[in-house]
Amino acid sequence: MSAKTNKGGAQAPLLGSKIKLHIEKLAIGGAGVARHEGVVVFVPQAAPNEEVLVEVSLVKKNYMEATLLEVLKPSPARREPPCPVASVCGGCNWQHITEIEQRKQKEQLVLETLKKFNPTLQFEYLPLKESPRSFRYRNRIQPKFKNNHFGFFARNSHDIVEITDCLITEEALTTKFSEVKIWAQGKNSKDLQRLEMYISEEGSVRYGLITDEDDGIGFSQVNRFQNEDLVQTALTWAGEDDYPHVLDLYAGAGNFTFPFAHKFKNAEITGVELNPKLVEKAKSKIKEKRMKYFLSDVESYMRRAVIGPEDLVVLDPPRAGASEYIMRALAAARPKRIIYISCHPVSLARDLNWIFAWSQKLGTPMKLARVQAFEMFPQTDHVETIAELRVDS
Ligand SMILES: C[S@@+](CC[C@H](N)C(=O)[O-])C[C@H]1O[C@@H](n2cnc3c(N)ncnc32)[C@H](O)[C@@H]1O
Repeated sequence: MSAKTNKGGAQAPLLGSKIKLHIEKLAIGGAGVARHEGVVVFVPQAAPNEEVLVEVSLVKKNYMEATLLEVLKPSPARREPPCPVASVCGGCNWQHITEIEQRKQKEQLVLETLKKFNPTLQFEYLPLKESPRSFRYRNRIQPKFKNNHFGFFARNSHDIVEITDCLITEEALTTKFSEVKIWAQGKNSKDLQRLEMYISEEGSVRYGLITDEDDGIGFSQVNRFQNEDLVQTALTWAGEDDYPHVLDLYAGAGNFTFPFAHKFKNAEITGVELNPKLVEKAKSKIKEKRMKYFLSDVESYMRRAVIGPEDLVVLDPPRAGASEYIMRALAAARPKRIIYISCHPVSLARDLNWIFAWSQKLGTPMKLARVQAFEMFPQTDHVETIAELRVDS
């Protein structure tokens, strides 16, 4: 059918219509991307290179969203999801796609996003690093419990999808599901209970409730198998320079801080982190005077930070990224090298643009030396990326 555009050019009359589409690729957020008469249409649960019948569910000025009704000609990369609840559970949005295709799409997504923000950007783009495990990799999860149902939220809803297993979670946790369900029943609460289960550093399984007063253990890398490689790559990219100071921003409990302290034995090491529990955990492990850990918002810290031209900065912000203020402060400080670890390609691309713009304005342009995507969260659209920046000499 043809698009009925109104005077304003909007596609509003299309709302609710059924149309056939060709899915070109996948987008950040996980949906398939198609075009209908030039307008982008996002189709969750689609796969690249397939023909689908959809119902238009949202019409905006520049794009539309649609619900997948039928796969008319399946993608060669489409498969039956190994998990029986994958089509309804809010956890994995790419289980219906082969791992090879998931990796191809992530590698492409990171590159396209960086180029979209800055089409002339030059850098070495290394092949995506595959996760040692595609399933059974998560060591921290947040299941829910209500009305005797134990599981995860359904996609786009707060209904609970009942589970007895979760294929992306380590077995040490999944074998405790029935025990945790009984424990949650014992709370005799009619309210929704948000739980957290994780494998501690010592290897034991822990669980508890997440409440308004206690938001759980805080951030930790959920895929320890791939995290090793990520940390090692950051160390390798940092090179062999004799940095006087290594600054780890958004340091968590020291996932990067301690390995950097171990490698750069002559450097002062500073970690900056906002979550008190993580700061306390890191501080309890510090044994050397040259290591410091600050409980602080990174932006506030940057107002008083002293960073020299021979220093190294590592930053690993949450999905929202850093901020223009932080990137401008880093551009002004012009450390010798910056290693930026990101879990969201859009905030990475935006932050990089800020630092390029500000370093240019301030007269010490920085360049992007290399970038590599890491498969940290198989079966989902999430992707980790590491980038190295240097002063353009
Ligand atoms: C992606 S995690 C990285 C943590 C650590 N680098 C790791 O690999 O485990 C981001 C961290 O930034 C912290 N964070 C979030 N916003 C912050 C802010 N404004 N200032 C300082 N830390 C912040 C979070 O608590 C979290 O520990």
